[in-house]
Amino acid sequence: MCAKQVKPAAKDVPTTGHVWDGIQEYDNPMPRWWLWVLYLTILWGVAYTIAYPAWPLISGHTQGLIGSDQRADVAAEIQRFDDANAGIKAKLVAADLAAIPTQDELKTFAVSAGASVFKNNCAQCHGAGAAGVQGKGYPNLLDNDWLWGGDMAAIHATVTHGIRNSADEDARYSQMPAFGVDGILEKPQIAEVVQFVRRISGQDFDAALAASGVTVFADNCASCHGEAGKGDRTQGAPDLTDAIWLYGGDVATLTETVSKARFGVMPAWGDKLSEDEIRAVAVYVHSLGGGE
Ligand code: HEC
Ligand code: HEC
Repeated sequence: MCAKQVKPAAKDVPTTGHVWDGIQEYDNPMPRWWLWVLYLTILWGVAYTIAYPAWPLISGHTQGLIGSDQRADVAAEIQRFDDANAGIKAKLVAADLAAIPTQDELKTFAVSAGASVFKNNCAQCHGAGAAGVQGKGYPNLLDNDWLWGGDMAAIHATVTHGIRNSADEDARYSQMPAFGVDGILEKPQIAEVVQFVRRISGQDFDAALAASGVTVFADNCASCHGEAGKGDRTQGAPDLTDAIWLYGGDVATLTETVSKARFGVMPAWGDKLSEDEIRAVAVYVHSLGGGE
């Protein structure tokens, strides 16, 4: 310790007697304003724990005098929205399906309610923007190319029952044969019909193979995809002439599709969503651009 650095205390202010490294501590009282603020915060704190739920008890907690309960507040708020929408939801359920998109008030409500149903239930497969996932068999819902139909009734049925799932008896169902795996077609015939599909879809093709593919197609594929390959909605058989692919239009993917077939599954929503939610999401999908 260096005694030189110890400054004498101001005359009438006593020190606490603590000295550390040459520094002494004055024994001043706290400023009055500071003390009052301290007392006020203590009072506020005590009053708060009396007024509001605060102290944990063995089971539960003190309820507070003014009966505030944030969980109940949120529940009441949700209830308020539900009550406010109950009328329009009932209208949506009662309305003629095909007429909903022509009724402004219903449509506006359904599209916005449907958008959130879509985000929560459909986007994981069809994509947040509903553009689908090419190559995986999740169809684009923005275009007017429909596997099963794009009017309100068809979309509503697809969403309610789903496609090729085993949970709903009324699920849409069809199965393309696995022409290669099941030995229905020889490898060369598959190569021919693949070139024929390339031809009708407007891509590069091998002319000789495609010419032989005409009969292979007529004999094996036309029953579902149609004579001209335009598809058949009653069987969910895609149009092969547009450039829109579920799985892909390159030779390797086409060969795999024809050899092994595909089995695109969509769950049924009839037991997971309420009727007003199904209708809302059907209107939303219908409104995306391809609605018929
Ligand atoms: C687990 C993935 C999955 C989920 C989730 C899903 N879908 Fe699908 N959806 C599919 C598949 C796969 C197909 C195509 C099936 C086929 O090849 O026929 C499809 C087809 C459709 C079609 C038929 C399109 C057409 O061209 O006819 C509609 C409409 C549709 N989905 C709407 C919905 C809506 C609305 C939801 C949410 C409520 C939803 N999907 C949720 C996988 C899914
Ligand atoms: C029993 C009906 C049926 C027959 C017969 C059939 N298909 Fe299909 N095909 C379908 C269905 C249904 C799908 C959709 C499968 C899915 O999405 O899971 C499909 C899908 C396809 C696809 C995928 C299209 C895409 O967008 O990726 C190609 C390619 C195809 N078929 C070609 C053929 C060819 C070639 C033949 C004849 C050798 C044939 N199909 C015979 C019903 C059939």
